[in-house]
Amino acid sequence: MSRLPVMSSKRVLTSSSSSSENAQDFAPAQKKSRKDSDPVKPKAAATVIGAKRPPVGSTRPPLSKPARGGGAATVAVGPSRGVLKPSVASTGAKGGNMKQPVVSTGTKAGGTGAPRRHAWDLKGKVSDMEDKIRNYQTRVKSVNQENEVLKGSMFQSQNKVVEMEQQLIKQRSQISDYEKELQVLSGVRDELEKVSTDKNCLQKELSNLEGKYKVMETLRDSQETELQTLKMKLSVQESTLARLQATLRDTEEEVRSLKDTVAQQKDELHAGEMERRQLHNTIQELKGNIRVFCRVRPLVDGGLSKHIQFTPTDNKTVTLAKTEESHTGKTADTQKNYNFSFDRVFGPQASQQEVFEEISLLVQSALDGYNVCCFAYGQTGSGKTYTMEGDEFDETRGVIPRAVQQIFKAAEKLGAQGWEFTFTASFVEIYNETLRDLLYTGKASKRPEHEIRKSTNNEITITNLTYEKVSCEDQVLGLIALANQNRSTAQTAQNDRSSRSHSVFQLDIEGVHAGRDVKCKSTLCLVDLAGSERMVKSQSQGERFKEMTAINGSLSNLGIVIAALANKVCNLQPQDPQTPKVLYSLTTCSRFYSISFVCHLN
Ligand SMILES: Nc1ncnc2c1ncn2[C@@H]1O[C@H](COP(=O)(O)OP(=O)(O)O)[C@@H](O)[C@H]1O
Ligand SMILES: [Mg+2]
Repeated sequence: MSRLPVMSSKRVLTSSSSSSENAQDFAPAQKKSRKDSDPVKPKAAATVIGAKRPPVGSTRPPLSKPARGGGAATVAVGPSRGVLKPSVASTGAKGGNMKQPVVSTGTKAGGTGAPRRHAWDLKGKVSDMEDKIRNYQTRVKSVNQENEVLKGSMFQSQNKVVEMEQQLIKQRSQISDYEKELQVLSGVRDELEKVSTDKNCLQKELSNLEGKYKVMETLRDSQETELQTLKMKLSVQESTLARLQATLRDTEEEVRSLKDTVAQQKDELHAGEMERRQLHNTIQELKGNIRVFCRVRPLVDGGLSKHIQFTPTDNKTVTLAKTEESHTGKTADTQKNYNFSFDRVFGPQASQQEVFEEISLLVQSALDGYNVCCFAYGQTGSGKTYTMEGDEFDETRGVIPRAVQQIFKAAEKLGAQGWEFTFTASFVEIYNETLRDLLYTGKASKRPEHEIRKSTNNEITITNLTYEKVSCEDQVLGLIALANQNRSTAQTAQNDRSSRSHSVFQLDIEGVHAGRDVKCKSTLCLVDLAGSERMVKSQSQGERFKEMTAINGSLSNLGIVIAALANKVCNLQPQDPQTPKVLYSLTTCSRFYSISFVCHLN
């Protein structure tokens, strides 16, 4: 240290005690220096500068001129130049953290400090200075010691700093470790969050499942209850079943015995049926295979003609009264009665039902396997078509629809006994000895011609004829309607409905009893003949005359054939040209009924 800072005399920062101390120190020092030369370490205040020069911001610049007068002199430690410069002691500024003792040596000039030496007292001054130097040296030493201490503490501090730095590094690495760990942990946290989300989802699902489980449990409980109920029912039903099975066994036994009884009864029934047929046949034969009925229709006003008389006691005779002119003219006209006997006579009051009841026996024979035929013979307008076909009303239905109804009903009953029937219908018109198919539905121009053929097994067939399979009454009624459409009718002066042709409805019946290997085959013929009126009355001419000739010819031949049949001497063959065509229906028949009609006009 070459130069010490000069402190302002006015600014002494030492404490009052120190300054007073200094003042005390100085005075005795001076005295001591005079008395003894022992250096006394004054405790005067002085600014001690450490290793580093403290900043002097707050201090005044050093005085360049020595102060004279009454100011205290500040003694700086340094090389003396032999010039005593009064100085002002100043307090040392505190520098850094180091604590430096502040020495203030300032004495107030002219005050209570050491007495100012006279200029000539150089020796005193030197001794003062030397004292001061010693003082300073002592201070320097202590400062150095302090410095050493401070250095030591600084070294320690540095060590500490190093340690701290090492610790810092360690902690930094720890921090980086922690950061890594933190990263890992944040990943874990993310995962954890994911897991917790998953857990939430799963919990929701779980709660859902729990709800479902509860529902299922409830359902299971109810089903268990139901199951129990069902089990109970089952056990009840099992016992019922056991009872029923026992009953069933009994019933089966009963059924077996009943079946036996039924089979037995069927046998008996069949035997009875066969017997009935035989008896019916016998009765019909006894009654006569050829039967002739007479039906008299009422007048248009509902009354009865005077010249027809019925015998009140029986219903088998009818008397026709005829007035005959006298040949001479002298006598009055005489009235002659002609009696006619029939198997049955139906008066004007007789209903369609009554007439059919007689015919129904014939129908039954047809089902029993006999060929039967029924003619309606009479003049035009006498009621043949009415009797055979009738009207559409139930009560006025004729023989054909009633016979068909009866046949299907009887076939149904016989079906229950094991019979199976097949029916084939045909409808033929014989006009001018020419056959016409009344069930023909094709074009009129392509209408085929027909011939009557007799096969080796005595069956009569007509070529190119429509044979329609029928299984119910309605089907037959439909065919009758078709036939009526097709039927050729000719106008005559007598009756606009009068038919100039014969019409033959034929139903072929085939019955099979598969169980008993029994078969039957028959034909039912219902014939509505053409009018038998006389030519004069009908006023027929030309074509009509030709018609009448054919009709009357066939009808008269028919009469002959019927008489021959009654005597069983008929040799006419249906396919012979001279045989009236209508006779084909009659040739093979075993039973023949005729309804003759008496016309009022006769
Ligand atoms: N028993 C009867 N009761 C009531 N009306 C009848 C009876 N018989 C025939 N008629 C009627 O007399 C008319 C002539 O009869 P119809 O059967 O056509 O005669 P045919 O066929 O013999 O020429 C018809 O109008 C018919 O309704
Ligand atoms: Mg007619």
